[in-house]
Amino acid sequence: MADATVSSAATPPALRLLVLGGTAWLGGEIVSAALARGHEVTCLARGSSGTVPDGARFVASDRGTPSAYDAVLATGQRWDAVVDLSRDASHVREAVAVLEPASASFVFVSSVSVYADTATTGADESAALVDADESDYGGSKVAGERAVVETFGVDRSLVVRAGLIGGPGDHTGRTGWWPLRFAGGAGSSGADPVLVPDVPGLEVQPVDVRDLSAWIVASVERGLSGTYDAVGDRQSLTDHLAAARQITGHTGEVVPVDETWLEAHEVAPWAGPRSLPLWVPVTTHAGFGARAGGAGRAAGLVPRPVHETLRDVLAWELSRPGPVGPHGAGLTPGDERDLIAAARDR
Ligand SMILES: NC(=O)c1ccc[n+]([C@@H]2O[C@H](COP(=O)([O-])OP(=O)(O)OC[C@H]3O[C@@H](n4cnc5c(N)ncnc54)[C@H](OP(=O)(O)O)[C@@H]3O)[C@@H](O)[C@H]2O)c1
Repeated sequence: MADATVSSAATPPALRLLVLGGTAWLGGEIVSAALARGHEVTCLARGSSGTVPDGARFVASDRGTPSAYDAVLATGQRWDAVVDLSRDASHVREAVAVLEPASASFVFVSSVSVYADTATTGADESAALVDADESDYGGSKVAGERAVVETFGVDRSLVVRAGLIGGPGDHTGRTGWWPLRFAGGAGSSGADPVLVPDVPGLEVQPVDVRDLSAWIVASVERGLSGTYDAVGDRQSLTDHLAAARQITGHTGEVVPVDETWLEAHEVAPWAGPRSLPLWVPVTTHAGFGARAGGAGRAAGLVPRPVHETLRDVLAWELSRPGPVGPHGAGLTPGDERDLIAAARDR
């Protein structure tokens, strides 16, 4: 349950943070945000996903091995908070067991995929969870959350259930696809027709990676505990696509197709190849991007306007070396041309 227990401090002293991760996208952003606030950050990871931001100390370790935390424990260091980005509940269990005596608090980055009901809009943190089946992403996050709270206790735990994370660095292409497509950066021009999902009633609420990271760091500074959905502002998918189109100045035709048509033409929802990113079937998933989000707002999470996220993820996409591409998400230009031709023949 959300618990806005906060002890405030205007200018917090530098904190000692241990980030379990920090070599990938969100973890790296959290580390950068913490360093920018003057905190001392150690990152523990294998190093397979990348490097940690300059200024952070890196400890190479595989959390699947028995002595994974020996190097950080050997320092005798006491941490103000451990921040864990794991998707593997067994890693979380081991970390909380060995690090509890060494840390004042534990922050676990979880996901809204923990919720059992994806159809109901406006639900909050009290909604029922999926079973803690660790072979499943959401179930593993449930098991990880439980391990954290059981070991550190509610008052020393912060569970952050992130919604869709977006903005610069979104390697899934979910938030980058639409501005990139309207800008003509995915192998076509900014005046080409664009196939869009026409799904009345479907909402999205991406949270900008920079807002999420800054809020996690601020929450550690303030001693926030409890469980929070970390989501952006709710917006209809239609308005989201209009915002993406507007920031690019796309002048071409927009070709709307409904869900039945998309399914019949084997276009996948959400992400990945031959998909229209961000679209999810509204009858079963209307609530997936339409959570209440009120507890996070009350605890200080301030989402920036969505057009800033779209503008900046587009700039990031266009600045990447090599051919501009949508990370395996969306439609190839050929598939989209064929689908638009089929839509016109309806
Ligand atoms: N993207 C979204 O829209 C979304 C939505 C909701 C929640 N989330 C959550 O947000 C977080 C995203 O984190 P992220 O972007 O930093 O990427 P990630 O790929 O989820 O990060 C995993 C981190 O754990 C480390 N790691 C993985 N296996 C390890 C092992 N055996 N030993 C040691 N370290 C290991 C990785 O580093 P190495 O590979 O270098 O070891 C990496 O730094 C995740 O918790 C995810 O579940 C994401």
